[in-house]
Amino acid sequence: MSVSKANGRISIEYLRTLRQAGQPIVSLTAYDAGFARLLEQAGVDLILVGDSLGMVVQGHESTIPVNMDHMIYHAQMVVRGTQQAFVMADMPFMSYCDPKQALHNAARLMQEGGVQAVKLEGDASQAEVVAALAAHGVPVCAHLGLRPQSIHKLGAYRVQGRDAGAAERMLSDALQLQDAGADLLLLECVPAPLAGQIRSRVSIPVIGIGAGADCDGQILVLHDVLGMSERLPRFAKDFLQSSGTVQGALASYVEAVRQRQFPDAQHLFSQ
Ligand code: KIV
Repeated sequence: MSVSKANGRISIEYLRTLRQAGQPIVSLTAYDAGFARLLEQAGVDLILVGDSLGMVVQGHESTIPVNMDHMIYHAQMVVRGTQQAFVMADMPFMSYCDPKQALHNAARLMQEGGVQAVKLEGDASQAEVVAALAAHGVPVCAHLGLRPQSIHKLGAYRVQGRDAGAAERMLSDALQLQDAGADLLLLECVPAPLAGQIRSRVSIPVIGIGAGADCDGQILVLHDVLGMSERLPRFAKDFLQSSGTVQGALASYVEAVRQRQFPDAQHLFSQ
């Protein structure tokens, strides 16, 4: 079954339809209008204004220095560069510690930044925040697995959910966040079998990064796809190398995700 595009911008409902139809959701990060326009022209469904901008744009060692003003500035550019893509932005570190603060900052991202949804990192302890946002009409993507904003607690950027206890907790977190009202789930650096299991237990679209092929969609950081990163993560792929142009690389990425050729065995983690 093929899904035709909604009029205007892609909506959460359209992303749900893609899941139901078994059509992969193609996602990438972008941080400015020029690249956002190219992503949209290549056919990317969902653009994330990621707080990864702290590392790939601002040159920091982590995403922690990114603040609300930075996110709004970059969100505005991405929204201006697009007309159809679904645009979502990260809630930066410490911007969603309780429902009141989360509502205030999500409102800024939507009203000033112009995005359609917010993403936040967190486990079931964030259910109250997710519920408050959902109750006020804010679409939320819950980010589980490797959560870069917790890097100083984690100690290293590594695969999450490998042992049985951690895997069980992640599944339970996913279900609780869905019940609280999350509309999307993003799984980062999660063993492929666990990601597939979570995907089969929730009904909302699951977007993976380093989470294997059994997700409803895939996302990568733009700089990895264009071979611009100092160190390419094992789960990512430089699509510029074989295509030679930025437009060619983006088109190859979109095609590879749509045809389920990416990620393949070398880009996933086992349990
Ligand atoms: O900020 C970001 O780029 C992310 C990635 C996991 C997609 O959250």
